[in-house]
Amino acid sequence: MQDKLNTKVIISKRLTLSEPFINGNEWKYVKECLDTGWVSSAGKFVDLFAEKFSQYVNAKHAIPTSCGTSALHVSLVALGLQPNEEVLVPSLTFIATANVVRYCNAYPVFTDVDDRTLCMDVGKVKDFLEKECIWSNGLLINKSTRRTVRGMIPVHIYGHPVDMDPLLELAQKYNMFILEDATEALGSKYKGKMTGTFGNLSAFSFNGNKIITTGGGGMVVTDNSALAERIKSLTTQSRADSIEYYHNEVGYNYRLTNIQSALGLAQLERIDEFIQLKRHIAEFYQRELGKVVRVCGEEEWAFSTYWLCWIIIQGKSRKQIIESLNAKNIQARPLFFPLHLLPPYRDCQAYHTERSEYLYEHGINIPSHIGLADDDLEFIVRELEELLDKP
Ligand SMILES: Cc1ncc(COP(=O)(O)O)c(C=O)c1O
Repeated sequence: MQDKLNTKVIISKRLTLSEPFINGNEWKYVKECLDTGWVSSAGKFVDLFAEKFSQYVNAKHAIPTSCGTSALHVSLVALGLQPNEEVLVPSLTFIATANVVRYCNAYPVFTDVDDRTLCMDVGKVKDFLEKECIWSNGLLINKSTRRTVRGMIPVHIYGHPVDMDPLLELAQKYNMFILEDATEALGSKYKGKMTGTFGNLSAFSFNGNKIITTGGGGMVVTDNSALAERIKSLTTQSRADSIEYYHNEVGYNYRLTNIQSALGLAQLERIDEFIQLKRHIAEFYQRELGKVVRVCGEEEWAFSTYWLCWIIIQGKSRKQIIESLNAKNIQARPLFFPLHLLPPYRDCQAYHTERSEYLYEHGINIPSHIGLADDDLEFIVRELEELLDKP
């Protein structure tokens, strides 16, 4: 089958949300790793991938990690998050964003998301900080839990950037760190600047469903050289000497291998095409479905990669619609389950998170795989129109 990128690929019959698109230099680069024996956590591709990645996002430092979750976790360790401190996390996100806070024995405080972008609601964050927190001995204290509020993790969800300017102002005013969860938003821009270049640190993911993949992998990005050094050290077991087994502190084996980096480099070479195709899919849905249902869009200050497209269903059972689509081999899923309602997080504070619940109850992710042809998109649109039209 010839695909839109003019190369031979095997596309599964199922019309999927997002899957790897391997059709560039992946074989060549991975073969080089296998031929030379450089298969593990050192090698030319590790350095090359990091270098090209930092150039692409326009940041001083990029440090490869084993996955997006480890990138987020090691970032919190480097930012000095302490047990019993708190971090603001949106409720509508993948669970890893909150889990990494718990890995540090700290606690997430769940905030709501914005109806248009599905990203952290900056107005509610402001309200929370103004109304629910007080200063005590130079620390920002949450009045209900008496814990110190240290930072926030805005998530550029489904490829759409967070409204960063007001958050940066709040972070400065309240002396909080910002760790950007950019795992879903490589290539997106806020006011013309790449997501992942606003926070103290940022994390990316190269999981199989992401816009580029290394099988599994991640990256931490920062302009801060001291933090970059610390991340490098922490991800390599904090080994301080290349000969002696001398370790400065408790570190982690969170490195990305040369094979994975080889994949990542080949994928990164094609990212502009991938983004173009993702945007084509979103525009198709906006044009063809926008009259019958609310389709994901873009704020005027945003450039979205539309990593995963979504629609918001009203007056119909979204469960039924998902089941009917899946029965036709059209992959569809609900949006993320609000984290504050999940067993590990029910006891954590959630601040006016009703919009996250509403969006979860009504939202559906629809196929956004860049291998989808216009015929596939037309089929999906027709099926959806029919389902939405049924009494
Ligand atoms: C918002 C968000 N945060 C964190 C992660 C974790 O990334 P990974 O699966 O690479 O560990 C993901 C994706 O999987 C994600 O979507």
